Amino acid sequence: MCGIVGCVGAADVSRVLLSGLGKLEYRGYDSAGIAVVCDGAVDIRKSSGRLARLLAACERDGYPQGGAGIGHTRWATHGAPTDANSHPHASGDGRFAVVHNGIIENWAELRRELEAEGCRFESETDTEVIAHLVERAYEGDLLKAVMKAALRLRGSYAAAVVCADEPGRIVAVREASPLIVGIGAGENYFASDVTALVERTRSCLYLDDGEFADIRPDSVSVFDAAGRERAKEVVRVRWDVRAAEKGGYRHFMLKEIMEQPGAVEATIAPRIAAGRVCFDDEGLDDGAFCGVTRVVIAACGSSYYAGQGVRSAFERLTGVPTSVELASELRYGSTLVNASTLVIAVSQSGETADTVAALRECVCRGARTLAVVNVAGSTVARLADHAVHTWAGPEVAVATTKGYTTQLSVLYLIAVRMARALRCIGTQEEARLVRQIAALPRAIQQAIDLNPCVSELAVRYKSCPSLLFMGRGVDWAVALEGALKMKEISYIHAEAYAAGELKHGTIALVEEGQPVIALCCDERLAAKVAGNILEVKARGANVLAVACLDNQDVVALADDLLLIPPVPPMLSAAVSVVPLQLLAYHVARERGCDIDKPRNLAKSVTVE
Ligand code: G6P
Repeated sequence: MCGIVGCVGAADVSRVLLSGLGKLEYRGYDSAGIAVVCDGAVDIRKSSGRLARLLAACERDGYPQGGAGIGHTRWATHGAPTDANSHPHASGDGRFAVVHNGIIENWAELRRELEAEGCRFESETDTEVIAHLVERAYEGDLLKAVMKAALRLRGSYAAAVVCADEPGRIVAVREASPLIVGIGAGENYFASDVTALVERTRSCLYLDDGEFADIRPDSVSVFDAAGRERAKEVVRVRWDVRAAEKGGYRHFMLKEIMEQPGAVEATIAPRIAAGRVCFDDEGLDDGAFCGVTRVVIAACGSSYYAGQGVRSAFERLTGVPTSVELASELRYGSTLVNASTLVIAVSQSGETADTVAALRECVCRGARTLAVVNVAGSTVARLADHAVHTWAGPEVAVATTKGYTTQLSVLYLIAVRMARALRCIGTQEEARLVRQIAALPRAIQQAIDLNPCVSELAVRYKSCPSLLFMGRGVDWAVALEGALKMKEISYIHAEAYAAGELKHGTIALVEEGQPVIALCCDERLAAKVAGNILEVKARGANVLAVACLDNQDVVALADDLLLIPPVPPMLSAAVSVVPLQLLAYHVARERGCDIDKPRNLAKSVTVE
């Protein structure tokens, strides 16, 4: 999705902007641009396509010089990814430029009104109305003008404006779209996520909805819509700059797959003490769980599949009915949520629009809320009663890997903690479960060690028109995530289904040579999955099984095998997903796909 960045006070503002935009590339985009205030004018450079095109244009025509600048990577919503539709957008008199992330819902109405007053629009975007509104509202103070313009806007926006007459100033506003201000020495910044800032500063403040930031080289002031100044806490970002670099790997995705043992270890180790699960730092004590009669896990994409992967752990350990809901459905649906429901919102970014909206809805309905997020200070983290962080570090590849496995591992721990609070497990049982969870990083490493073998197998799948994934129980949840990984980065059609459902339709697709990936890491279900393997093989399928070492029923039947170490079935998703991540990666590489930035996809889906 769109990314925005800005800087005041730096010696070379345009290079800071372009470097920041480079860090935001991972969010997914199709055009880019910058605007810099110089010599009493606003110099705008923008172009469709990758950032490299914009950089080449700056090399050719010179980098704009000046004291304040804003930049944008655009993921097209209103109008095609053309040069004209790229941000920044200028006002009619060219004295203001704006970048915006989000959607202005009443843009058509505003545009009609502005056109009737004689405004000429240069683009098809919703954003351009902001530039014209600010121009009309300006009476010598950019902050006041942006505040007045914002009164007319409906929708979601993180927007920032520069003005030719105020060369050392950026005014930014947030409404339902993330915006972070970075504090430097003699220079200050803003961005839509911290990845764009960590190279310059670790001190950040997070704007809340309805807040405006007046950003100057030596000061940052935050105001509410009524113009009252707000005191904001400066938060120290823990992320390491190097964590957001490729470090010798060809792709971020491969690097992030390889980082999983460390990321899972970093996530679970601080929560384990003397054989017990401890979330004291998060304030997650018995009281957070006592009286809970229902758990609802709400999420999107892979985070939703992580929820599917832990559902049985919650139900088996706590005895509390647990459902996993797509946030986009939950927000408008009729799922029963009340004061005795624990809603767990799972989101790597903490900014996914549907997850934020679903969580807000559940807060309104009086639910107890818990956030599982990777980004400290994100909207989901701040909305929930308690926030539990995954310590995956920045994840840059659009297709999540370490984000997913760290979510699973922290959710296992939450299930154990909840089981203890509800007196469903004793000390010994807790210690046994904790040992099993603590063993996950090693098992994940063993699964990663399959990499050379997966790389060889991938050649065989590179030209397949379609792949089928199947499994039962937790293996079904993993099949869903495996199929998602495959389609999002290799663009091969992939479908996952519960193996027991095979005969109710999907088997009609199986013919000679159809590749089927069978997940079988639960020994109790091995005979059942073996039966399904026989059924598809009888119709000509070629079966690749991902199974536990000791699962002989399946081992004997598969055409190809990827064996993971034995893991308790309840926890197996965090390990069995790894060969599927590697398979998707190598198939996509064989097909020459843009692995880290797959077409049409965005890392952080901040619009509905
Ligand atoms: C996008 C990303 C996925 C992610 C999903 C939910 O689709 O490409 O990798 O799983 O959003 O994102 P979240 O940040 O809420 O986990």
